[in-house]
Amino acid sequence: MASIFTSVPQAPPVAVFKLTADFRADPDTRKVNLGVGAYRTDDSQPWVLPVVKKVEQMIAKDSSLNHEYLPILGLPEFRSSASRIALGDDSPAFKENRVGGVQSLGGTGALRIGAEFLRRWYNGNNNTATPIYISSPSWENHNAVFSDAGFKDIRAYSYWDAAKRGLDLEGFLRDLENAPEFSIFVLHACAHNPTGTDPTPDEWKQIADVMKRRSLFPFFDSAYQGFASGSLDKDAWAVRFFVSQGFELFCAQSFSKNFGLYNERVGNLTVVGKDCDNVARVLSQMEKIVRTTWSNPPSQGARIVATTLNTPELFDEWRDNVKTMAERVLLMRAELKSRLEALKTPGTWNHIVNQIGMFSYTGLNPKQVEYLIKEKHIYLMASGRINMCGLTTKNLDYVAQSIYEAATKIQ
Ligand SMILES: Cc1ncc(COP(=O)(O)O)c(C=O)c1O
Repeated sequence: MASIFTSVPQAPPVAVFKLTADFRADPDTRKVNLGVGAYRTDDSQPWVLPVVKKVEQMIAKDSSLNHEYLPILGLPEFRSSASRIALGDDSPAFKENRVGGVQSLGGTGALRIGAEFLRRWYNGNNNTATPIYISSPSWENHNAVFSDAGFKDIRAYSYWDAAKRGLDLEGFLRDLENAPEFSIFVLHACAHNPTGTDPTPDEWKQIADVMKRRSLFPFFDSAYQGFASGSLDKDAWAVRFFVSQGFELFCAQSFSKNFGLYNERVGNLTVVGKDCDNVARVLSQMEKIVRTTWSNPPSQGARIVATTLNTPELFDEWRDNVKTMAERVLLMRAELKSRLEALKTPGTWNHIVNQIGMFSYTGLNPKQVEYLIKEKHIYLMASGRINMCGLTTKNLDYVAQSIYEAATKIQ
């Protein structure tokens, strides 16, 4: 009898995971992985944050803990502390009791639950026609998350000016102006992936002005708080500014990167509403969505984050750990730029230090990328995006020399 799965088409692999598999299979000893989406130490190793190790031991020794189900919306002390880190302790939204949180499976889970809610309840119910605007370019999963949640009209907004290797503010503002009222805009809170380019506070003000006037809904994606500048507060500036301007908004938070808890799947969807009653009703619907999606969330990552955020000494230690990661990224940026310039590599390389966060959009074209992978065993995304943490003091010379060769040999 034929399989009932005979007509299932083979789906293509996810680019970033495929790149890592290719890297692992490559026997060349010079190989470098600049494609990975996670932090690496100067020895190219994953890093368990010292504060996380400490809290894990505290949790293991705590005999009052058990493995009962968590509430559907998650661990209360996690949800509130996570939202506080996004909005700031002195946020007017907290004072007015109009903030809610949904513990989620990573930042992706927060985006998906938020998208599902918006499809069900934003702008009428079972709304699939509201335009969703995603930056061009963006993290490749944004489109898929919103489309799988049922949205039919997913559009790109201008973001990246390839010629100047910076923000296309004019195009961005124009797309905001032209968007139908009540459209949803997915905004990267900081350390834009993949370009490493964020609006300045003044540019955010202009963006917020148009969004307010045109009644556009901001859905922030905050996957890198602390990574952009090393400061948790600075990196939350845009979200906090929008709240101060009276917006109702969502903010999908990921603790994968800033806690190094990639496989614990810990995130939070912060909901800011007009008042307490609105937020309570929204959360009651979120509970329905979570119930049929993952029913209730896992505890380990949430306990680690909540214990850290709610204990002043641990919080300070975490802030230092985040700074350690951010500073290593900054150092690699400066070192790569100076090497490329010393080699007189064609083009300008200021963008390497001007961009922020884990990623840099190098400006290398697909042929140059192919050359780096095939000839130099340096793995990076076809878009030219590199993870700065893939660089180490040991491979910088080799990578810079290889980029020089790619840029001189291949146009
Ligand atoms: C912009 C952006 N949003 C969300 C995520 C998802 O994070 P998580 O692994 O916590 O689901 C990522 C991860 O790479 C990201 O880059």
